[in-house]
Amino acid sequence: MNVIVTGGCGFVGSSLCLYLKNKIKKIKILSLDNLSKEYSRRNQKILKKNNIENKIINVGNFNQMKNIKFKADVIIDCSANPSVEASKRNMTKIIESNFLSTVNILEKTSHDKSKLIFLSSSRVYPINDSYARFKKYLNTGKLSSYDENDNTDGPKTMYGFTKFSSEELIKEYKYSNNIDYIINRCGLISGPGQFGKVEQGLVSLWMWKHINNSKLKFIGHKGSGKQIRDVLFIEDLCRLILIQIKEFNNLKNNLFCIGGGKKNIIDLVKLTEICSKISKKNIIISKVKKTSNYDIPYYVSSIDKINKFSGWKPKKNLIEGLKELFEWMTKNKKQISRYFQ
Ligand SMILES: NC(=O)c1ccc[n+]([C@@H]2O[C@H](COP(=O)([O-])OP(=O)(O)OC[C@H]3O[C@@H](n4cnc5c(N)ncnc54)[C@H](O)[C@@H]3O)[C@@H](O)[C@H]2O)c1
Repeated sequence: MNVIVTGGCGFVGSSLCLYLKNKIKKIKILSLDNLSKEYSRRNQKILKKNNIENKIINVGNFNQMKNIKFKADVIIDCSANPSVEASKRNMTKIIESNFLSTVNILEKTSHDKSKLIFLSSSRVYPINDSYARFKKYLNTGKLSSYDENDNTDGPKTMYGFTKFSSEELIKEYKYSNNIDYIINRCGLISGPGQFGKVEQGLVSLWMWKHINNSKLKFIGHKGSGKQIRDVLFIEDLCRLILIQIKEFNNLKNNLFCIGGGKKNIIDLVKLTEICSKISKKNIIISKVKKTSNYDIPYYVSSIDKINKFSGWKPKKNLIEGLKELFEWMTKNKKQISRYFQ
C-alpha cells in the first residue's frame, strides 16, 4: 500500500507515519513537508531512520505539488499551521498553508484516484457559541458536546475559517470529481512528540513547564483557569486512522467529530493538579485577565457518530496519557528542550 502523509514531519504527521509503518506490512509512505516548524527537521531524521522519505515541498504551491509523481492509495492531510493566534498575524500565509494546500491535495487525489483522509479542527464552530456553552456549564455544571450537525455559522478565527473552507471544498470535489474522503474534525490532541507553546499544544506545554519548575499563566477568561477542553492522545488518533484506512469503504464520505470526549475533559486548574502530582513539582501560576478575541473557553467533542460507525473510542484516559507524556519528556529532556519556549 502506498500512502502520502502531508505534514509528515509535524507532531501528528510524524506520529502517524511511524505508527502506520509499524502496523501495515509492505506499506510505502511518502511524507511531504516544508519543514516549517523548528522540530520538523528532527522528525524528518526520525522518519529517515525508519525508511520513510520526506520530500521538502510547499504543499500549498501548485507547481511543486504537480511534480510529485508518487501515486498513493491513501493521502492523509496533516499539513497546516494549527496555531490560531498565528492565523491572526499572517492571514494570507495561513490561506496558503491551510487552504491552498487542500486545493492541491484534492487535485492530486482526484488525478490519482486516491482516498483522502483530512484532519480538520474543532475550531470550525463559531466563537460566540463556545462562550454560550461555557456560561451554561458554569451555571448548571452540565456538559454539552459538539457534534457533526452543530452550527458552524459565524466568526471562528482565520485558522478555523481555513479548516472549514477545506472541509467544504472536499465535499465540492466529491460532487464534481467523485473523490472519496473522510473528514476528522479533531479537538485538542496531545501526547509524546508534541512541543507545546503558549499558542498551541497547551497540555504538552503545561507538563514541560512543571518538569522544569518554570512559571505558567492562566491566560484569558478572567484568569480563572476554568476553560475546558477534551483531550485525545495521539496513539488513539493513530489507531483511529488505521481503522479508517482498513474500513474506508464503510466510513467514506463522512465527517466525524473526533476527540477525547466527555470522559477526558479537563480545565487548566485540574491540568495543573495532575501535572503537579505526576511531576512532583508545584509551580507558580499567575493570572492574565485579558482574553484574546481568538480564544474560546469551551470545547468538548461528541464521539458518538464515529463510535457508531466504527466502534472506535479513546483507550487512553487523562492520567495515563499525561504520565506517558511525562515519561517521554523526562527520558528525552536534553534532546528536546530546544524545541520548547
Ligand atoms: N495538534 C492539535 O491539537 C490539532 C487539533 C485539531 C486539528 N489538528 C490538525 O492536525 C494537523 C496536524 O497538526 P499538528 O499538531 O501535527 O501540527 P504541526 O505544526 O506539528 O505539523 C504540521 C506540519 O505541516 C508542515 N507544513 C505546514 N505547512 C506546510 C506546507 N504548506 N507545505 C508542506 N508542509 C507544511 C509543517 O512543517 C509541520 O511539520 C493540522 O491539519 C491541524 O489543523 C491538530
